[in-house]
Amino acid sequence: MQEQLRPLIAGNWKMNGTGAALEQLAHLKTLLEEAGEIASDVLICPPATLIHRAAQRAEGSPIRIGGQDCHAKVSGAHTGDVSATMLFDAGASHVILGHSERRADHGETSAMVSEKVQAALAAGLVPIVCVGETEAEREQGRANQVVAEQLAQSLPDDFGNTQIIVAYEPVWAIGTGRTPNIGDIAEMHAHMRALLVERFGAAGEAALLLYGGSVKPDNAGEILRTANVNGALVGGASLLANDFFSIIVVA
Ligand code: 13P
Repeated sequence: MQEQLRPLIAGNWKMNGTGAALEQLAHLKTLLEEAGEIASDVLICPPATLIHRAAQRAEGSPIRIGGQDCHAKVSGAHTGDVSATMLFDAGASHVILGHSERRADHGETSAMVSEKVQAALAAGLVPIVCVGETEAEREQGRANQVVAEQLAQSLPDDFGNTQIIVAYEPVWAIGTGRTPNIGDIAEMHAHMRALLVERFGAAGEAALLLYGGSVKPDNAGEILRTANVNGALVGGASLLANDFFSIIVVA
């Protein structure tokens, strides 16, 4: 069934970009207009400060705008945090949750990610839940087990009532220029598909399984043609419209 899924190409700008970066968004909009019909959905997740302006600039184009994290609560005494409701209000449609940089830099556990997923769903956002093993875990032969545990604990039971999007991002492939070989990506994505189908049934069959970690214009085609890969979560190569567009058109 997953062959028929419409891919999602998502850009994660991380902590990059001030107002000037919106020119890249405008350029991407032009490139997409010139290309006409495209075969995938397109999402850009800029820093929170740009979401509102990005959503305005993206209007009238297929580009959707997302957040990179949200708090589990709707509002309250949480200085510096942003709630899912606020992201939605600013114009976001999606939110990345449980990115390995959040797990590492902010001590986010899978249980916390699960609470954030519920907050995102309640606010009307589509969560993109990230999982992935470290290099040491892969070398110890524990990659499948680590990802299974992250999936089991990061996804709430009611996730099956919605469009499930999971991004497999091996920590050692992020920002390093290194990617797993295609066989390893295929194996992990098949593993995730089986786990999601076992737990969520048809919603697992329809889940979008993104690959992330050093996706570039020159390797995107091979990665995106891999079985059970339904899109990409792109960091560095999403910052420049020309690079990101090259990835979108091969999907
Ligand atoms: P890079 O594409 O820069 O490796 O980043 C991947 C990533 O972390 C996307 O969320």
